Amino acid sequence: MPPKKLKNPRARHNFVGRTCSILSVGSYVPERVLDNAELERLVDTSNEWIMSRTGISERRIASKHETTSDLASRAAMCALERAKVTPEEIDLIVVATITPDMPFPSTACLVQRKIGATRAAAFDLEAACSGFIYALEIGQQFIMSRTYETVLIIGAEKLSSIINWSDRNTCVLFGDGAGAAVLRHRPHAHGLLTACMGSDGTKADLLCMPGGGSACPPTHESLAAGLHYLRMDGKETFKNAVNAMFTAANEALRRCDLDISEIKCIIPHQANRRIIDAVAERLGASQEQVFVNLHKFGNTSAASVAIALDEAVAAGRIQRGDLALLIVFGAGLTWGAAVIEW
Ligand SMILES: CC(C)(COP(=O)(O)OP(=O)(O)OC[C@H]1O[C@@H](n2cnc3c(N)ncnc32)[C@H](O)[C@@H]1OP(=O)(O)O)[C@@H](O)C(=O)NCCC(=O)NCCS
Repeated sequence: MPPKKLKNPRARHNFVGRTCSILSVGSYVPERVLDNAELERLVDTSNEWIMSRTGISERRIASKHETTSDLASRAAMCALERAKVTPEEIDLIVVATITPDMPFPSTACLVQRKIGATRAAAFDLEAACSGFIYALEIGQQFIMSRTYETVLIIGAEKLSSIINWSDRNTCVLFGDGAGAAVLRHRPHAHGLLTACMGSDGTKADLLCMPGGGSACPPTHESLAAGLHYLRMDGKETFKNAVNAMFTAANEALRRCDLDISEIKCIIPHQANRRIIDAVAERLGASQEQVFVNLHKFGNTSAASVAIALDEAVAAGRIQRGDLALLIVFGAGLTWGAAVIEW
């Protein structure tokens, strides 16, 4: 059978922009492993509960002196070396994070300094666990419009810095890490076929960190009340995640005129094994299509799909020319899905 002619939704309305491809990916996770046995000694939980309710076995935790921009810079250098692109060639750096080194300057500017990307413009974006697809869509706008040649996008988090380590409802779920991708136009490649993004601010309270911003600047009282920690309504978040990820993935496939069976590898946000299984089942995907690495890293928010994409490529699960479907969901609420011809 001749290969199917891919429908690139970007070509609608005779759009004359360039396509945007991921030249390379890279990731970095801190060395320190925090396993479920250690969490059993920290809070009233068990390996059995964590494994059966989430699928997470261990996560990585950054050291006291290791910041989000450190993790981001390591992932960025890995991606740049693989693409054989020098830091000086980067036109734009976008860092997706909810755990910036500090409220300002942006973590992207700190990464720029660390990797020596002297020519680049740099900024952060905040779309929680959906950040990497938001960054991908933004990055490709600059390539497509011929504004920039080379864009570096990064999802990076030090979530351990905003976790309440005495709250068993949340502390077992999250980990630290970073993933990066170098974006450029690649002649004769479709690259990113489509990216759908969505949000629903009416459900902002389901997953948030209430303190530390302008609504509730840090005070002795806010610290005592633990408002600087991540808070989550797990059950409602779970339901919304399954619905939003399924809807976004379906919309992305519809735009490209693709059936789920034509996707080689599905990379879902790695928050909970049960969420991933429920989304895959509703999409009619087989287990073999779905890439899962959350047992090793837990939920690393904006870094999650980037690290998973890097591992999937390294494992040969995605090869040049294959179609991959990325699906994300996070606080905001936010969600998204992207179809990529790798
Ligand atoms: C957090 C989550 C794993 C909990 O699973 P769940 O199926 O909703 O929880 P269950 O109903 O099975 O269990 C809840 C009970 O377990 C308890 N529990 C919570 N965390 C626990 C833990 N680490 N160890 C043992 N028990 C725990 C709760 O206190 C509750 O007890 P209660 O019924 O006596 O009040 C699940 O809701 C979830 O993954 N939500 C989405 C999280 C997420 O993805 N967030 C990020 C989105 S980007």
